[in-house]
Amino acid sequence: MAKTRKKAAAPQTVTQPSEAMDQMLKERRVFKPSKEFSKAARVGSLAAYKKLYNESIKSPDKFWAKVGKELHWFKPFKKVLDWSKAPFAKWFVGGTTNLSYNCLDRHLTTSRRNKAALIWEGEPGDSRTLTYDQLHREVCKFANVLKGLGVGKGDRVAIYMPMVPELPIALLACARIGAPHSVIFGGFSATALVDRIHDCSAKAVVTADGGWRRGKIVELKKAVDEAMPNCPTVQKVVVLKRTGQPVEMKDGRDVWWHETMAGASPDCKAEPLDAEHPLYILYTSGSTGKPKGIYHTTGGYMVGTYLTSKLVFDLRDEDVYFCTADIGWVTGHSYIVYGPLANGATSLMYEGAPNHPGPDRFWEIVAKYRVNIFYTAPTAIRAFIKWGDQHPAKHDLSSLRLLGTVGEPINPEAWIWYNKVIGGKRCPIVDTWWQTETGAIMISPVPGAVPTKPGSATLPMPGVLPEVVDPATKEKVPPGGGGILVIRKPWPSMLRGLWGDNERYKQVYWSTVPGSYFTGDGAHCDKDGYFWIMGRVDDVINVSGHRLGTAEVESALVSHPAVAESACIGVPDEITGQAIAAFVTVKEGHAAGDDLKADLLKHVTKEIGALARPKQVRFTGALPKTRSGKIMRRLLRDIASGKERVGDTTTLEDYSVLAKLRESDEG
Ligand code: WTA
Repeated sequence: MAKTRKKAAAPQTVTQPSEAMDQMLKERRVFKPSKEFSKAARVGSLAAYKKLYNESIKSPDKFWAKVGKELHWFKPFKKVLDWSKAPFAKWFVGGTTNLSYNCLDRHLTTSRRNKAALIWEGEPGDSRTLTYDQLHREVCKFANVLKGLGVGKGDRVAIYMPMVPELPIALLACARIGAPHSVIFGGFSATALVDRIHDCSAKAVVTADGGWRRGKIVELKKAVDEAMPNCPTVQKVVVLKRTGQPVEMKDGRDVWWHETMAGASPDCKAEPLDAEHPLYILYTSGSTGKPKGIYHTTGGYMVGTYLTSKLVFDLRDEDVYFCTADIGWVTGHSYIVYGPLANGATSLMYEGAPNHPGPDRFWEIVAKYRVNIFYTAPTAIRAFIKWGDQHPAKHDLSSLRLLGTVGEPINPEAWIWYNKVIGGKRCPIVDTWWQTETGAIMISPVPGAVPTKPGSATLPMPGVLPEVVDPATKEKVPPGGGGILVIRKPWPSMLRGLWGDNERYKQVYWSTVPGSYFTGDGAHCDKDGYFWIMGRVDDVINVSGHRLGTAEVESALVSHPAVAESACIGVPDEITGQAIAAFVTVKEGHAAGDDLKADLLKHVTKEIGALARPKQVRFTGALPKTRSGKIMRRLLRDIASGKERVGDTTTLEDYSVLAKLRESDEG
């Protein structure tokens, strides 16, 4: 693509299902929850689920008002939804609340006061437990630290931290004073940090010297230092000491976490915030080179994550719940921090890699803390399968009662393995479909009520109205048919927009099927109304459950001096679900080959982060384009996945290109 940013592409027709998808469509097995599970569950039968669901759709205001009232409001809301300025929604209009209050203070007057809120396991083997009372104190102290540094209501705070308790503490402190946070995943590079900090004009950054990953230090402060000269809005940087190697501290700008916290007061009243006060901005990839700043507000997000945590994870006071996501992604926001804590649950977080020091680390943690609910990603499950059954077999996993997955379609084979080897055939699996944009789980079995089918996210959450529509006619497709997945009605935890870009928000999500939210995913709906998510139909690649825009990686590649043009596509990968294949044309005077390939991988790591490194780099003389200049991605996909037939090429501008591509060497 050219160096200029391309406009968000209209959705392509639904891509041909890959072999794995084919397999999914043939899947016929049904797993009913056990009688014991159903008996103890919040929603104990399919009929009860259907009743709840139908009521929520028939009278959404009544339904959401009832859920909303289970939480604390300083001032009650007057109206549930104002959709008069669609697609800009206002939920719980007139209400004031505070999510930090609902996650902490609300529990302090109950028997949960001295219950574990967070259990943390560091990668090197250190551990900490914080009760609700202790977590509340730490959050209040850090909220006071932020105030002392000049951070006030409405100011944005960028958070770039390892998975340590101070990360949720920082989030909850921001929420407490009404300073929207923007967490940036620790795997992103200094350049990516600049883009995101710049876009939301963050006033302060919270970071650490480093974090542990596979026994090595990820040097976070160093990346912040590299970014800072290009981040003029940042006035203060708070640095947590985690890994202990020497770091530079800039006078007047940088402060140590432990030093400022030492003098901070543990009293800090939660600020009553309007239900629509911004809670956070989280950047995610879209169809253009520029990441989208998805932003969520307080009241609706609180209600959505609270309800779904309760229903989908069937959270009980005695449960230990372990979500393996990183708080750098939305799953960590909604289902390590806000949802579980709003429910007064015990949330376990782990700092490091699943295979450090050995491939059984997760199972060791499950046994050590007697985890009851375990939530992970299909990519991790496929890695566990590859590493071998002997690793989970070494540990007592009998405490587990419920398993979950998120982030990408799960292939039935991985689902069956998860059910058998990890769940001992007794744990229901909740395959939860949702997005950064949706804030909370949208389609998932309610365990105990909804029979599961391997590979299907099953049925919608109460209040959520998804539909599979034909992209051409915009009509609902009949049962069994495929199309694009849309959501027909607004829901409380929906994004409120893209930070600073209302037009792009309208165009990306609300213009494809007017009046409906377009998810970017393709899906099938079967005769039982079960949803089968088939993956993205836009230019987003899902690598290990991490979203990457092809245009983002292409921009990174063409910013290298040797690259003329590049096109990136997703190719199926056994472990990561999809991987990136990059087709690259080289400028005159530069040589394609292994050296350049290595340099390009380094370059992408510098521009975005290691997570965006293409798995294949293929040098080619030219890229196949249609007469109108559009890159023929389907053809590239066929070539990259080694298919014999390369599809219909009648619109190919230069036939010679095809031959050249066929000969192109994988670097
Ligand atoms: C994909 C992660 C199939 C989907 C919470 C979606 C899934 C994108 C599932 C959002 C699932 C997520 N089955 N696909 N259970 N869950 N996806 O924003 O393509 O990082 O659009 O949010 O992941 O990714 P995001």
